[in-house]
Amino acid sequence: MTLLQKLKQRFRRDSVTLDLHDIQALILRSRPEPYVGVHAMLHFNEADGARALLGRLAPHIASADNWSEDLDFWIGAALSFEGLKALGVPEAQLKTFPLPFQQGMAARSEQLRDFGPNAPENWDEVFKAGNCHLALTIYAVDDTALDKALATARAELDKSSGVTLLGEHRFGAPDGAKNPFGFRDSISQPAVDGSGVDPLPGEERAIKAGEFLLGYESENGQALGMPEPAALGKNGTFVVLRKYNSRVGCFNAFLKAHGETPDEHEHLAAKMFGRWRSGAPLTLSPDHDDPELGADPQRNNDFDFKDDPKGRVVPLGCHMRRLNPRDSELTLLTDVNIHRIIRRSSTFGPVYSEDVAPEDDAKGDRGLFFIFISARAYDTIEFMQQEWINRGNFVDLGEERDPIVGLHEDDGRFTIPQAPARKRIDGIQTFNVMKGGEYLFMPSLSAIQWLAAGSWG
Ligand code: HEM
Repeated sequence: MTLLQKLKQRFRRDSVTLDLHDIQALILRSRPEPYVGVHAMLHFNEADGARALLGRLAPHIASADNWSEDLDFWIGAALSFEGLKALGVPEAQLKTFPLPFQQGMAARSEQLRDFGPNAPENWDEVFKAGNCHLALTIYAVDDTALDKALATARAELDKSSGVTLLGEHRFGAPDGAKNPFGFRDSISQPAVDGSGVDPLPGEERAIKAGEFLLGYESENGQALGMPEPAALGKNGTFVVLRKYNSRVGCFNAFLKAHGETPDEHEHLAAKMFGRWRSGAPLTLSPDHDDPELGADPQRNNDFDFKDDPKGRVVPLGCHMRRLNPRDSELTLLTDVNIHRIIRRSSTFGPVYSEDVAPEDDAKGDRGLFFIFISARAYDTIEFMQQEWINRGNFVDLGEERDPIVGLHEDDGRFTIPQAPARKRIDGIQTFNVMKGGEYLFMPSLSAIQWLAAGSWG
């Protein structure tokens, strides 16, 4: 049974309280597995043409409504602040958007700790400040479905004037859900209250919908501030898009330099991520990979850290535990449930191989579009980049950074707690280098029509 079929089986319409017909599918539907797709970035040169394109695209943008429908592709659309401006949205409404969104990702480099190799001046042209107005994403179950979706989108684009296609980037993970480093990803996702899909074992409880969608109650009991009017804000959400080039060769060389045998390399890699390549969590399988466990959604996220407070099984500083400390005791008190994110990342480039060498990294052909969705996306990403990724003092690790996505301008360190003495490994590098990104608003389907109509009253 495919992942989508499994998901559809878990869908219960009688527990739905959200306006699924108005919410973009990308928000509430997982990627297919395996998946292929395209990200297309567009620039609006002129408001009338841009609004006409939005209007023509609107019927093709999938809603989260019918989980039993056999969709073999879905298109999602998100706009930057500059995009909304270029559509002609009036100032009174523009200023109801969060300030970081208004400024755009490049202008937030200080808060995001995007310095040195990750700084905006080194980003791809597409993502240079103000360029990307509309980001279209297509997820498809196979190349045939993707070609069909692309033909649809291109036909609408060909009819348009006043819009420039800045770039199109194909992605996909033919080997299931493996990312550029050969690790299964997108496993741990929050369940969204009212979406009709109950939490899987290990997810404890569904998180209030207002954490992920505008216009619903959040974890603090109220709806978060929403762009106005409600016709524009309600059922929409915010998206963080960050494109990384993965230095897989460097990562391989690092593993080989710090272990004698392939088993030792695999063990170190698992300690850095918190899971084995198959997705099997270290907590449930501390000594070796277990592909059956990794592929089983009923078991692969069913754990917490209460029996591992010092991180002897899952290091406190590994990628997965940093970005969701679950029940770990944190030195800096934080409500973990308001920092949950829906991840919709996509991998590009050749399938992982242990033979990739550092010199191969210069091609820049492997990487990941890290994409996440949250109604408080900008606070969350800036908090994560500052506290959980590029520092370590929230778990008493001082200035130690995330070994996978941290920025390491000088060689970094990774601590593996163990008895009798913890092991410290130096030589961590920036294994994922930022190539650009943007802060985006993903409107509801009715808001796309509202924007296309341009009657702002
Ligand atoms: C750019 C390269 C990245 C790679 C290769 C990567 C890889 C992974 C892998 C393999 C996992 C474990 C499996 C899973 O649950 O999906 C994971 C989990 C996770 N990652 Fe990343 N990731 C990357 C970037 C990021 C960034 C930039 C963030 C946040 C700003 C992030 C946030 C998370 C979160 C929240 C989890 C789930 C933790 C949990 O709930 O247990 N990742 N990532």
